[in-house]
Amino acid sequence: MKEFNLTTKMRSYQWNELTAEQRELVAIAKEQTSNSYCPYSGFHVGAAAKLENGTIVRGANQENAAYPSGLCAERTALFAAGAQFPEQPVTHLAIACYTDGHFTKEPGSPCGACRQVMVETEHRYGGKMEVLLYGEDGTWVFESAADLLPLIFVSENLKG
Ligand code: THU
Repeated sequence: MKEFNLTTKMRSYQWNELTAEQRELVAIAKEQTSNSYCPYSGFHVGAAAKLENGTIVRGANQENAAYPSGLCAERTALFAAGAQFPEQPVTHLAIACYTDGHFTKEPGSPCGACRQVMVETEHRYGGKMEVLLYGEDGTWVFESAADLLPLIFVSENLKG
């Protein structure tokens, strides 16, 4: 038997410690929470994906009476980016969550399916995608989406 400890790296920043570019993207993710359609959970999630050419693609969670038909904010943004700008690498993704009249103190943690899509996006373009998770008490920054998903499953794994 061998035991392994898997570690990952993230940083927590106060608002004034973020770069102007990071603040701009996070501000758009916060703004996007108002475009969330979440009559069932009341949990508003906004996302903003920045592409290599500077374009910002917006997302927000979209729920459905048939619950599994809805989609998280992260994937609405990443799939919209892929559908509209397939040649453009996604360099940054910001997320913010709003519920009960305020932004969450601690950042919302992306679900497993979104992490998988983030990693595929990164892998697809062959570079890192920085992930910024906004919380009122601090913004968590992951240099790479892969830092959110140890033991990733990517196209090479399909080859056995
Ligand atoms: N949600 C997101 O949009 N992103 C996440 O990272 C976590 C959860 C959405 C899905 C659903 O509409 C609501 O939040 C409650 O789970």
